Amino acid sequence: MRDQWQREINYLRVSVTDRCNLRCRYCMPEEGVVWKRHEEIMSYEEIAHLVTLFSGAGIRKVRLTGGEPLTRRDLPRLVAMLKEIEAIDDISLTTNGVLLPQLGRELKAAGLNRVNISLDTLRREKYRQLCGRDELPRVLAAIDEALNLELHPVKLNSVIIAGVNEDEIEDLAALTLDRPLHLRYIELMPMKRRGEKAGEGVTSGEIRRRLEEKYGPLIPAGPPHGQGPAKYFRLSGACGTVGFIEPISDHFCPSCNRLRLTADGRLRPCLVAEMEIDVLTPLRQGAREEEILALYHRALQVKPMSHGMNGKWDPGGRSMHQIGG
Ligand code: 5AD
Ligand code: SF4
Repeated sequence: MRDQWQREINYLRVSVTDRCNLRCRYCMPEEGVVWKRHEEIMSYEEIAHLVTLFSGAGIRKVRLTGGEPLTRRDLPRLVAMLKEIEAIDDISLTTNGVLLPQLGRELKAAGLNRVNISLDTLRREKYRQLCGRDELPRVLAAIDEALNLELHPVKLNSVIIAGVNEDEIEDLAALTLDRPLHLRYIELMPMKRRGEKAGEGVTSGEIRRRLEEKYGPLIPAGPPHGQGPAKYFRLSGACGTVGFIEPISDHFCPSCNRLRLTADGRLRPCLVAEMEIDVLTPLRQGAREEEILALYHRALQVKPMSHGMNGKWDPGGRSMHQIGG
């Protein structure tokens, strides 16, 4: 199914909760977060119902996000329910990793295909400062566990912030040398953070320059899986890859293949644009399936060509943990 710009939309990111067990500086304020009430959040049955309907309109891949999806009770049950949907051929998870050592095996058994784990620093104290909790050891264990369980390709997400973790650009890339890890540098996006400043992002161009200075020319590599927005390269002789996700300096919007479903059941055609279409309320009011599908088609129709975010953009609206990254 295509949107009005002829982009094939086959990928749905489903946020299962707005809650999180970390407080990353660029995502959430330390205090004063108002969580959604349980009744406002889609049940697993509602999620499975909506995904089933949307799979009839072309959705083939589902990614579970949050907040932190593993903080929601019994996530393997949802994975198993999604696995039952015939048209869905790929179920992935974006996680901070804290609870993955504990839940990885069960998730794999339920049918989870792969994971993305957030990792911005390899230093314990820095992790505590940046992510708000002393959880680095568990996150490193999560990466080992993801490889053990063969949740391939195992992707890592790093946001590089000037004066915070820019001195670790090279060390993070070194993780890809001996193991099949795919580390992606994500440019910092200015999200709503209640006045406090997240700091300055470091551009992909600068990161590349530093990597080439240390490791020599980056060798272009195909994507390890799927057709996401990252561009991939290999350090000479490396087992894994490094990738760049450039919402700020590159416009990847023309190849965008995704829609988002927020934890409170709103279709969000674009991460950045404020517009949302409520599908949960009609579902709960007993709308017919065609009516829900009509809302899905509306979301495709209003999906903007581009977010127009180049440097200065600063939206009101929701924080990242409420949208699902
Ligand atoms: N800019 C860029 N990436 C962000 N993430 C969260 N907030 C931001 C932001 N403001 C990323 C995290 C995590 C994923 C869920 O979203 O690094 O990997
Ligand atoms: Fe939690 Fe992810 Fe936001 Fe960090 S970036 S606070 S792990 S939702």
